[in-house]
Amino acid sequence: MKLSDQTRQAILDMQKQYPEKRSALIPALHLAQSENGYLPREIQNEVAALFEIAPNEVNAIVTFYDMFFEEPVGKHVIHVCKNVSCMLRGADGVLSKLCQKLQIHPGETSGDAQFTVIASECLGACDLAPVMIIDDKTVGPVKEEDVDKILEEAKKGPGHPSPVPQREIGYA
Ligand code: FES
Repeated sequence: MKLSDQTRQAILDMQKQYPEKRSALIPALHLAQSENGYLPREIQNEVAALFEIAPNEVNAIVTFYDMFFEEPVGKHVIHVCKNVSCMLRGADGVLSKLCQKLQIHPGETSGDAQFTVIASECLGACDLAPVMIIDDKTVGPVKEEDVDKILEEAKKGPGHPSPVPQREIGYA
């Protein structure tokens, strides 16, 4: 797998928008991920070369943030907050119900490749606890009985932002 010429050029253009080109690394990774929905090592290495940094520096970022994926994920990605404010308000029950419904464990993708569920650190919306981010939409407070409806609604959307065609994020 390789980056398209178009994405390589878009990343080089992106670097020029910052005093330090390294500042463009995270947006560049989003753009690279948008091509195939995940960032295998060969793509990470290409990005590292474009930034003239070591591949392990890119890998450290990709593996730190749960918005980046080294393996393919489902069409829809659901992050469920597992931090204290959300747990105190029932996030563990919501996560269990979701995983039970999809017959997976946190971190896995459903058999029909529609949904990946990730138990995440604070999603930055504690006032809405318990919180999910479904694709690019923050939802809360979520109740266990909402899970079926949430899955049905998610299926109507285009999917998580990374597989969105580049023209939809302004790079085509
Ligand atoms: S603790 Fe769940 S969003 Fe902050």
